[in-house]
Amino acid sequence: MPNLELLAACVSRLKPPGVSGKIRGQMVRAGSVIKLEASAKINLTLEILGKRPDGYHELRSIVMPVSLTDTLTLTSTYAQTAMTITVSPGVDLTKIGSVDRNLAVRAARLMQERYRINAGARIHIHKRIPIGGGLGGGSADAAGVIRGLDRLWELGLPRDELMALGAELGSDVPALVHGGAVLMAGRGELVSGLFGDAPPETCAGFWLLIANPGVMCPTPDVFKKWRGGLTAPPSILHNMASSIRTSDVSAAADALYNGLQPGVFESYPDVAQTAARLHEAGCLGVLLSGSGASVFGLARDEAHGQEISQKLGSGLWHVLVHTCPVV
Ligand code: C5P
Repeated sequence: MPNLELLAACVSRLKPPGVSGKIRGQMVRAGSVIKLEASAKINLTLEILGKRPDGYHELRSIVMPVSLTDTLTLTSTYAQTAMTITVSPGVDLTKIGSVDRNLAVRAARLMQERYRINAGARIHIHKRIPIGGGLGGGSADAAGVIRGLDRLWELGLPRDELMALGAELGSDVPALVHGGAVLMAGRGELVSGLFGDAPPETCAGFWLLIANPGVMCPTPDVFKKWRGGLTAPPSILHNMASSIRTSDVSAAADALYNGLQPGVFESYPDVAQTAARLHEAGCLGVLLSGSGASVFGLARDEAHGQEISQKLGSGLWHVLVHTCPVV
C-alpha cells in the first residue's frame, strides 16, 4: 500500500528554473534530428480543493499517460523556430490556434532564450490526440519538446528543471515531463511519481476506451463554473493508488473521481451522452478526462476493450489504449 501521507509530503515544490552558467550560450549543430512519442494523459482522480488567490484552483490528481500519442520530430536549425502539423482522422485541424500561441513552439522559444541557444528548431507534430479534449495533447507536445530539445541541444538538464520549465507553460506540462503514474498537486506544478523510484512489479496497467464527442469544453470556463459542493471521499486517493499498484481494474473503476464532471455534464449534454454510451457498451467505470470533452471507460482486458469498441461502432470517435508504464 502506498503511504499517501508520505507521498504527499514527498511532492516536491519545484524550484524556479536556475540558469546554469556552463550552458549559457550553448553552441548547437544544425541538422540533428530527434523523433519521440508524446503521450496523452488521463486523470484517474481529480479533486478540486478550492480556489486560490492567484485565480487558479488547488487540485490533487492521479495522472497516467496512455498509449495514444502525438509523434514529434525535432530538427535543430540555424533558422528561427518553426512548426508544421499533420493530423490523423478525428483530429480537427481548425481547432489548432496560432503558431505563436502553440505550447510546443513556446516551449522551444523558452528554452532557446533561457539557455541562449544559438540555433532554432524545426518542430513537426503528427497529431493523434484530439485537440481541446482534456487529454493534455498540447501539454504533451510541450513536454515532448522540452525533453527532446534537452537532448537535441545537449543541455543535460535535471528532470526537476525540465518540469519547472513546463510549469511556466501550463499546469499539466510538469506531470507529462515527469512521465509515468504521478500524483499532481498545487495548480498542477507539484508532481511526484506515485510509487517513488520503486515501481510495483504487480502493476500491469489498464486497458481503456477514450471517446470524444467533438465539442470543445474550454478549460477556463469549466473551472469558472466549478461550485464545490460534494467533496471526494477521503479514501479516494489511497484506493486509486492501491488499485494501480495491484492492477485491480474493478477497484479502479470504483475509485474514479472527477470534481469537474457534474458541471461539465450539465453544461455539455453531448459529453454526458458519450459517457452513457461507454457505460451501455460495457465499460466497468466511466469518467470525464480532465476538464473534458473526452471521457474514458475502463475495460477488463484488451479483448473486452475490443468488444466495447465494436459495440460503440464508427459513429463515435473512440480509441482503445493502454496506460503507459508507471515510471
Ligand atoms: O495552466 P493552464 O494554462 O493549463 O490552465 C488553463 C486554465 O485552466 C487557467 O487559465 C485556469 O482558468 C484554469 N485552471 C485552474 N486551476 C488549475 C489549472 C487550470 O483554474 N489548477
